[in-house]
Amino acid sequence: MRTKVVIIGGGPSGLLLSRLLSLENIDNVVLEKQSREHVQGRIRAGVLENGTIEMLRLAGVSKRLDNEGFKHNGIELSFKNHGFRIDLKKLTDKHVTVYGQTEVTKDLYEIIEKENGNIINCAEDVLPQNVGEINSFVTFKKNGIENKIMCDFVAGCDGYHGISRKVIPENLINVFERIYPFGWLGILSETPPVKEELIYANHGNGFALASMRNNNLSRYYIQTSLDDRVEAWDDKRFWEELKRRLPIEASESIITGRSIEKSIAPLRSFVCEPMNWNNLFLVGDAAHIVPPTGAKGLNLAVSDVYYLFNGLKKYYLFNDDKDLKNYSTKALSRVWKAIRFSWWMTTTFHKFPEQTSFDQRIQDSELEYLENSIASQTVLAENYVGLPYEEF
Ligand code: FAD
Ligand code: DHB
Repeated sequence: MRTKVVIIGGGPSGLLLSRLLSLENIDNVVLEKQSREHVQGRIRAGVLENGTIEMLRLAGVSKRLDNEGFKHNGIELSFKNHGFRIDLKKLTDKHVTVYGQTEVTKDLYEIIEKENGNIINCAEDVLPQNVGEINSFVTFKKNGIENKIMCDFVAGCDGYHGISRKVIPENLINVFERIYPFGWLGILSETPPVKEELIYANHGNGFALASMRNNNLSRYYIQTSLDDRVEAWDDKRFWEELKRRLPIEASESIITGRSIEKSIAPLRSFVCEPMNWNNLFLVGDAAHIVPPTGAKGLNLAVSDVYYLFNGLKKYYLFNDDKDLKNYSTKALSRVWKAIRFSWWMTTTFHKFPEQTSFDQRIQDSELEYLENSIASQTVLAENYVGLPYEEF
């Protein structure tokens, strides 16, 4: 079997890249370790930047997004149980869209299958080989049978735990990492959202976030310690703690109910440089991780796809490899700004175990400054709605 681009990982970045390449008649195959149901069931991102929406539009999957996504013109921030609003629209003339990652992957799977794209689910032992040589290939097992696909390029879209980054010799990459001493416990509940916009709360007990998927589906998160277990948090305990941390008005009006999903995610910042090794290109979480506080992970995965897709397109359509060669530099410039923003949101809103009274005062004054300074709000707003992509 031979193709032009083998895409390892059929999460949002791999699916989007596949669809865009197919629209330009650039042959590709997606190798995904899990079943389609598993990928579509993973409840993760919820906030999409305009750049992400435009890329999904380019891929031809904006119909349901336009009908069912919710435009948000602002967010609420709170500290000491008191909330204030950041008017994203007024400050940046942009908004964000609330539309779940589950729906993005469903839409992409559907269109790729309808247009006879090539996704191989439940592919085991996927391994890129001879990367950087003329005869690059990827091997994998399906139903116990060994397969080999020859290719020009490999796109490693296989997330933080994937194989692609691991095949790069350690001496050829630099890794930058910060592990935060806490996690997020998230629940999904079939209840109306507490407010029409998201609330990010800094509280003495730790961070809390009120988000949503639609008018009757809410997503809430609270900061927990690293050794906390989901089993220790029955719904009653979760709601009590969430109410304690939200602004008073929200905690008084929140409608609680049974949770239909509950999970804990650790928080880390991570960057691998460069984002390619010869003709193996890392995309999205395979190359970098942000703590979820700034809602940047999926959006960054999409901006990587933008840079790689444009590089591959120029290579195949115009025989020009300049942008492909610059992929890592271009992508990393945007990645680091999102790493900085997510780190800032995380340090400003969470309680650190070693936090001193000095650190506490700094957080309080940072938030007071934000509440009262348009300049400070603008910095937050332009990062939150998403920094621009570099044009081609
Ligand atoms: P992934 O989604 O991890 O996809 C990688 C795929 O590769 C998976 O399907 C996996 O099964 C497959 N794979 C792995 N190993 C192999 C292998 N060896 N062979 C073949 N396939 C393999 N981001 C935002 O932008 N906004 C948000 O609001 C937001 N909220 C979040 C909330 C939480 C709680 C979490 C945990 C994350 C959140 N994120 C958010 C981050 C976002 O979900 C990720 O950044 C995004 O999923 C990255 O997409 P990806 O395609 O790069 O990787
Ligand atoms: C959601 C997740 C985030 O990390 C965030 O910053 C905002 C919203 C969500 O899952 O809805």
